[in-house]
Formats: sequence, structure tokens, C-alpha cells
Amino acid sequence: MWSLGAWVLLGAVCAGSAQLQFNVIKSVEKTVCNKTVILPCIVTNLAQNNTKVMFVKWKLEKRVFFSFDGSVESIHRISNFSSAKLESLQNLRLGIASLSISQTQAVPGNYSCEVTESNREGETVIELIYRIVSWFTPVENILIILSLVLAILFYWIQLAVTVLKFETTLQKKIVFIIAGVIITIVAVVGFSLLVSDEFKPQNQAGLGLIVLPAVILVPLEYILLQIVFENKLPPFAIGVVFLQSVGYFIAVIGFALCITACPPKKGALVIAGLAIMALIGVVGLIYVILMGSSKKDQVPRKAVEEPLNDAKGVMLE
Ligand SMILES: *[C@@H]1O[C@H](CO)[C@@H](O)[C@H](O)[C@H]1NC(C)=O
Ligand SMILES: *[C@@H]1O[C@H](CO)[C@@H](O)[C@H](O)[C@H]1NC(C)=O
Ligand SMILES: *[C@@H]1O[C@H](CO)[C@@H](O)[C@H](O)[C@H]1NC(C)=O
Ligand SMILES: *[C@@H]1O[C@H](CO)[C@@H](O)[C@H](O)[C@H]1NC(C)=O
Repeated sequence: MWSLGAWVLLGAVCAGSAQLQFNVIKSVEKTVCNKTVILPCIVTNLAQNNTKVMFVKWKLEKRVFFSFDGSVESIHRISNFSSAKLESLQNLRLGIASLSISQTQAVPGNYSCEVTESNREGETVIELIYRIVSWFTPVENILIILSLVLAILFYWIQLAVTVLKFETTLQKKIVFIIAGVIITIVAVVGFSLLVSDEFKPQNQAGLGLIVLPAVILVPLEYILLQIVFENKLPPFAIGVVFLQSVGYFIAVIGFALCITACPPKKGALVIAGLAIMALIGVVGLIYVILMGSSKKDQVPRKAVEEPLNDAKGVMLE
């Protein structure tokens, strides 16, 4: 009787001292940027260096969804976790029982990892937390939107001034107006997609709609100035068009850097590029206004005034 009791006690003590120890990690975070999620589970005191005597079970809130039986090297998993696999089967015998799961299947929650090596076993719990990634800060969003709004607004004003003060064909006016309407609509759609609490692919599409079509403003500026100077652009006007295209290229480089990073960074370049476009837009506008007023002083022709008044009527409608 005594010997049996001693035997049971000894067994319990042995089992107790033979518990597997873990490198405890309380929680890991996943974001929309993790394509796959790794749940770490690292045993620090395996003794046998032999996968054949090992068994691994992964549970989510007490329900087993993945198991690996080393003796036959077989895996069982439920369909909700069809992507689950041991991160490194070769390193399992060294104690790496970490699990890799696809982003969509890795639901947040408390996961437990149970490892057995012959008669020793142990369990560790790890919480998977979902962290929302936001994109640009509200200030960055406002600066991006404001810059493009100003760039487009200056285009419209410059268009109005140019058609009122200088001669051009109806055809050109229609093309200018259609181009302006297109870029305005596309920009508004881009703004609505850009602004959101959480970073999503549609934010990237929104930024694309904001940055890429802005290229239209460069040739439009060029053609507007051509009307003003009757096809012989002075160096200053060429400088305006050149700087506007520089602004555009900076914005595009910023855009490329933004969308290749997750979470995206470097909103500053996009802002700088669009701000340059807006700034050059206002410079071009002031320039055209000055040219327009000096032209009016020099050539006050009645014949020119009349069709211009008609044009004014069209613009106001
Ligand atoms: C998600 O990705 C980040 C950055 O690459 C990484 O540090 C983190 O460990 C990943 N999270 C999980 C749960 O795999
Ligand atoms: C574990 O066993 C493998 C062969 O199965 C051997 O190559 C390796 O050196 C062993 N590692 C340790 C730490 O004993
Ligand atoms: C599988 O996922 C669905 C929803 O995603 C859930 O309703 C269901 O309970 C899950 N099944 C198991 C076995 O966890
Ligand atoms: C996971 O467990 C911790 C501690 O027990 C608890 O605070 C947390 O709410 C749990 N998380 C989930 C998603 O159940």
C-alpha cells in the first residue's frame, strides 16, 4: 500500500518536473498588412530532438482546430483554418511549434498551443489582437485635398480669365471645360475614397484618382498660356509649365512610395507635389491676369469686345 502511494507520488513529482516550458509571449498583433499571421509557440526544454514522439494541438477558445501527430506526421484541421500549418516542420523537434495562418482565417482571440513530447507536455496561451491601421493623418488628408482643390480652382479661374480676355475657338473652350469637369469629378471621387478610418485598398485607389489624373493640368496650363501668347511662349511661361510638371512628378513619386508600403508612409511627398502644382497654378493665374489687363489697355478694340461679351454670357450660364 505504502509503496503504491510512494509510486503515485513519485510519478506526480516526475510529471511535474517534466513539464515543458515555453518562451511566453502574451500577445501578438495583426494588421491589414499581414498577409499571413504567425502565432509563436516555442518550447525551450525539449529533450529528445525527435519529431516522432511529439504531438502539437492548437486551440481557439478551448476548441481544437489544428493538430499534428508526429508519430505518423499527419495534420488535422477544421475547414475554418484550412490555411493553418506549422511554421517550420523541420524545427519542430527543436521546439518551434509556431503556427502560420492566412490573414483572413486568423480571427482575433485567445489561442492555446499544447505540445507533447513523449510523456511530457505543456501549454501556452497567446492572444491575437487585431490593430486598425489608419492611413494618412486627418491633417495630411486635408492638405492633400486642399492642394488639389486649389490647383483645380486656379485652373478654372485661369480658364475663365483666358477666354474672357483672349481670343480662342469655341472648340477649344469646350475641350477645356470637358477636361476641367472630368478632373473635378475624378478628384471628388478620389477624395471620398481617400478619407476613411481604416487603411483599405480603396484608399489607395482614392489616392491614385487624386494624384494620377492631375497630369491633365500640365498640358491644360500649356495650352491656356499658348492662347495668351499666341503660340510664342516667353521663358517665364515655359518655366510655369515646367515647374508644374515637376510638381506632378514629385506627387507621382510620393504616390508610388505610398502604395508600395503597407502601412503606407511618405504622405509628405504627395502633399509637396500637389502643393507645388497649386502654387504654380496661382502664379500662372496672376501672370495671365496681368497679361490680360495690359492687353486690354493696349488694344481696346470694339470688334474684340463684342464676341467676348457673348462668351461671358456663356460662362455665366
Ligand atoms: C504582422 O506584421 C508585422 C510587420 O511585418 C510583424 O511585426 C508582426 O509580427 C506580424 N503579426 C503577426 C501576428 O504575424
Ligand atoms: C537533432 O537530430 C538531427 C538528426 O535527426 C541532428 O542532425 C541534429 O544535430 C540534432 N540536433 C541536436 C541539437 O541534437
Ligand atoms: C467557421 O466560421 C464561421 C464564420 O466565419 C462560423 O460561423 C463558424 O462557427 C466557424 N466554425 C467553426 C467550427 O469554428
Ligand atoms: C483573451 O484572454 C484575456 C485574458 O484572459 C482577456 O482579457 C481577453 O479579453 C481575451 N480575448 C478574447 C478575444 O477573448
